[in-house]
Amino acid sequence: MLILGLETSCDETGVALYESERGLLAHALHSQVELHAEYGGVVPELASRDHVRKILPLLREVCRQAAVAPSQIDGVAYTRGPGLIGALLVGAAIGRSLAWAWQVPVIGVHHMEGHLLAPMLEPNPPKFPFVALLVSGGHSLLVDVQGIGRYRILGESIDDAAGEAFDKTAKLLGLPYPGGPALAKLAEQGDPQRFRFPRPMTDRPGCDFSFSGLKTAAINTWRALESSPENRADVARAFEEAVVETLAIKCRRALHATGLKRLVVAGGVGANRRLRERLWELAAELGGQVYYPRLEFCTDNGAMIAYAGWRRLAAGQGEDAAIEVMPRWPLDSLLAA
Ligand code: KG4
Ligand code: ZN
Repeated sequence: MLILGLETSCDETGVALYESERGLLAHALHSQVELHAEYGGVVPELASRDHVRKILPLLREVCRQAAVAPSQIDGVAYTRGPGLIGALLVGAAIGRSLAWAWQVPVIGVHHMEGHLLAPMLEPNPPKFPFVALLVSGGHSLLVDVQGIGRYRILGESIDDAAGEAFDKTAKLLGLPYPGGPALAKLAEQGDPQRFRFPRPMTDRPGCDFSFSGLKTAAINTWRALESSPENRADVARAFEEAVVETLAIKCRRALHATGLKRLVVAGGVGANRRLRERLWELAAELGGQVYYPRLEFCTDNGAMIAYAGWRRLAAGQGEDAAIEVMPRWPLDSLLAA
């Protein structure tokens, strides 16, 4: 079964071809970073217009890379939500129209399900059940994953998502958009001992997160130092350490509460080097295993959507021709497959 995957939920147009026997055949991505950079963040209307421009050229490119003709495609998967509504509508309209023209089934995929299944694209994929830490620009979730669509939320952010906290703190420190990777890069030069920020909500039970206070701690510290650039890397490092340590503490709790040994980490913040190192250490200490997607599949991409779509289409799920997206869509409301 050959599946076309389309990702257009935010500021990346991702297109991929996944084949059930041979795995991922091709993938292509267009990042809108340059388009939004001058505004310091994603401008939804510009995002939608750019998806419209890029999606079909990217489709042509993946067909060429994989030496596949559109007539060989057996199904289409697109990101149905959550995300920016105009951006989602581009993938939904094009995905469903292609499926109708090609007379093949189509499925709308949950973006976070795509992220949490992304490690399945790697050579040593995790087996169910596992705990998933999903940390992106819009969500921070700890999920007990028993199978496809069998998700129990163990904890989530009560305010900013982890990626959002990275982005906002980076902006306050005067770093360019996109802030998360820029802050992480700067933090590499910082002294981890100089400042210590709180580990929010670790003093009470449970797996929920709160990150907005850390942003405030970082900015107050930096302003107290009169915003001098030579202190910026140390502040960035303290912020990153606090986020990483908080996530590690909550992962430990989630593994303990579920009795599971496998931890999957996905979403854009999963690309953070310090977080990856820290969770390797945690897994080693607990005698467990941690699974990540390759770096380029931590952030948004079409491959994870093609894969998740294949799992659902192979289970006989699919949709009729009406076009609908879900800008808000709770992960624990999905059907099992
Ligand atoms: O999953 P993703 O590509 O898009 C969403 O679904 O939101 O995640 C993007 C988020 C952004 O907030 C970005 O700043 C963050 O992931 N991010 C990072 C790093 N790379 C991306 N945060 C910290 N360190 C990184 N290396
Ligand atoms: Zn994402």
